[in-house]
Amino acid sequence: MSDQFKTQLMASNNLPRHIAIIMDGNGRWAQRQGKRRVMGHKAGVDRVREAVKVSRELNIESLTLFAFSSENWQRPADEVSLLMELFFTVLSREVSKLHRNNVKLKIIGDISRFSEKLQQKIAKAEDKTKDNTGLVLNVAANYGGRWDITQACQQLSAQVARGEISVSDITEQAIEKHICTSHLPPLDLMIRTGGDCRISNFLLWQAAYSELHFSDTLWPDFGEQEFLDIMASFANVERRFGCTSEQVSASIKE
Ligand code: IPE
Ligand code: IPE
Ligand code: MG
Repeated sequence: MSDQFKTQLMASNNLPRHIAIIMDGNGRWAQRQGKRRVMGHKAGVDRVREAVKVSRELNIESLTLFAFSSENWQRPADEVSLLMELFFTVLSREVSKLHRNNVKLKIIGDISRFSEKLQQKIAKAEDKTKDNTGLVLNVAANYGGRWDITQACQQLSAQVARGEISVSDITEQAIEKHICTSHLPPLDLMIRTGGDCRISNFLLWQAAYSELHFSDTLWPDFGEQEFLDIMASFANVERRFGCTSEQVSASIKE
């Protein structure tokens, strides 16, 4: 059933090029079963593997996953350190497989706050997969949308201060080139699991014209079929980018 569905989806020629997912609901998933929150994060890793597989099968160019926000440091210290350990373990365990599958891994966010050991692991993983030409998998870690826009502005202001560009060169295009996703196609679709309808400081700039999909499913329960269904509804949406419906139809016929 799902193979046929995938073939149809690909034939629609209207799949998102770049998908972002706010993988929320791990803690509640575990607590509902009387387990510790960290068990939810561990169960969530299986769903990450599956989301990567589906994205590869559908030839999606880029998948960006929110793993740890700049605000998540405020959580209890033991949860933060377990998340860091999990991140380290997953990188150790999964990078060879990603590499075999031609996936290019990028970590986006301010990684300078991570331990030296984790930073080295990240650098090695990125380096190993840097020439891969398949899916670009971006893991957002210590990422915040406000931070991203701020760091882009800082880079541009430094260029102004050095006299390399002028203030009028700080355009939307210039900011685009300096935010963390400059290596990626525009963000077409943002999904949040876990039942809340908010962006929680994820890709603020990038989501300006993305389709947003909020699902009540907790991340560890987010299966392949739901992911495919969301892509199917994406394929049917008319994206107008400020134009009228008639203009959009005319541009498709051209
Ligand atoms: C998302 O799940 C994962 C991270 C933020 C690291 P949560 O841990 O936020 O799970 P809930 O929202 O508390 O259920
Ligand atoms: C967003 O989830 C961050 C990640 C999924 C990594 P949160 O659980 O941190 O978001 P809030 O606190 O409910 O807004
Ligand atoms: Mg949450």
